[in-house]
Amino acid sequence: MYSDNASTDSTAARAHRIDPAAPVLLFDSGVGGLTVLEELRKLQPGMPVIYAADTAGLPYGSKTEAQVAARVAGLLGRMTERFHPRLVCIACNTASTIALGMVREVLEVPIVGTVPAIKPAATLTETGVIGLLGTEATIRQAYVDRLEHEFAADKILLRHAAPGLVEAAEAKLRGEPVDPAVIAQAAQALRARPHGDRIDTVVLACTHFPLLEAELAEAFGPGVRFVHGAAGIARQIARLTEGQECARKAPDRALFTGSGGTVPEAYRTVLARYGLQDGGRF
Ligand code: DGL
Repeated sequence: MYSDNASTDSTAARAHRIDPAAPVLLFDSGVGGLTVLEELRKLQPGMPVIYAADTAGLPYGSKTEAQVAARVAGLLGRMTERFHPRLVCIACNTASTIALGMVREVLEVPIVGTVPAIKPAATLTETGVIGLLGTEATIRQAYVDRLEHEFAADKILLRHAAPGLVEAAEAKLRGEPVDPAVIAQAAQALRARPHGDRIDTVVLACTHFPLLEAELAEAFGPGVRFVHGAAGIARQIARLTEGQECARKAPDRALFTGSGGTVPEAYRTVLARYGLQDGGRF
């Protein structure tokens, strides 16, 4: 995944009219977008952030295009009206590959999307065989076909849907053990495909998956590198907000969709590690 520039307006022209407390809104179906937040913190520690997780809609990967587009456009519309973010980052490959264009048409705020990092993977592979792990919805998107044709037409790209990794990443961040069989199954499925034994580069095309990079590295064995775009997305956010003032008026918050007044207890420790307080339900 890497970021996709959404600036319609010059950065300098926007800079003077941005409220210093206006947040960057990071949106995902769950905790995957924290991989982007981690990189953003390194580049812009003073940037106010709201982290929004559509946990009532998780997983997006098993939903239809229409369902994902409706949820993402609806939620981001409401959140943008309520929180007046300076920028929205859709920190989710599934949502971005389906709904990025539509959301950009309806929201008047810069939007940074997250799409599979096929371009960097194609420059890194030495064997010419790239694996791609994503959700069921992401791997069937025309957006991914276009990235493959544009950047990896002379490579072999093997796509595999690994929905079990989404739940494994959520479990890991709740402090629960990760089932090694789920990780092994993802690696074996790619290895078993024609040319799969020559994979030397794996695109983690879901923001949840870098949370399991250590486990995946063990399952794939030596000689495989993993590529994802969290750092690139953070750089893109930094570029689009360059020159803007930042001043937190309140601690950064995490909001989850769904019933109940607060975010689930099991997630509070990890959210605190990312500098986020319980912002309740949206
Ligand atoms: N984190 C999301 C992504 O990047 C997907 C997880 C889900 O299936 O909701 O694709």
